[in-house]
Amino acid sequence: MKQPVIAIDGPAASGKSTVAALVAQALGALNVNTGAMFRAVTLAGMQRGITTAAMCTEERFRDILDHITLTYATNADGKLELQLDGDFPGAKLRSPEVAALVSPVATLGCVRDYLKQWQRSLAGTHLLVMEGRDIGTAVFPDARWKYFITASPEERARRRLNQSGETFTGATLEQVAAEIAERDRIDSTRAIAPLKPAPDAVLIDTTGMTIEDVVEQITRQVRHEI
Ligand code: DC
Repeated sequence: MKQPVIAIDGPAASGKSTVAALVAQALGALNVNTGAMFRAVTLAGMQRGITTAAMCTEERFRDILDHITLTYATNADGKLELQLDGDFPGAKLRSPEVAALVSPVATLGCVRDYLKQWQRSLAGTHLLVMEGRDIGTAVFPDARWKYFITASPEERARRRLNQSGETFTGATLEQVAAEIAERDRIDSTRAIAPLKPAPDAVLIDTTGMTIEDVVEQITRQVRHEI
């Protein structure tokens, strides 16, 4: 039985978060951004003294995971938002400091297992849009719809630079491109659930496409098959 899940995977700054949010809105589905979950675990580590990639070990993070409360709660706007230890981390999740440490944290088996369990528990009878790196391959190999969204490295660097809060102030296109390339390298070469398209995923190269075109392609297919 295929699950009522639209899995949207792809590399950093490919535009998948924007696409996923709009697809969920158009279809009245629940939207889950799993990158934010990995970022929240990273922030929890930083709040407990983790400052370098070398400090991101299974042992340290097993202990951190034992002591955090990560959940969805209703925010002041009445919307469901990720909550860490009773606070809404919001924009902190997109800080350059979190961005620099999140890929090493995402290589850890204990972190991936913890989040995978939670991600799977969110599926039910309701239509779910889940966005990340391994949703179609590892979290929901039986998802009914799978998309792998990408764009050229130059296009992705440009998009990231235009996304406020994610890069250090004054960063150049070259610096941003190098940071994205390094994240891609760690995400695609890690031992557990590396970034790669599921064999049955629809590949969408969004270079030169508008967001609306991408959203339209996905929603048209889903509506047709629902
Ligand atoms: O999509 P994002 O940039 O917010 O993701 C942040 C990091 O989290 C990314 O470098 C890889 C990791 N990640 C992952 O390993 N698996 C996911 N399903 C989602 C994100």
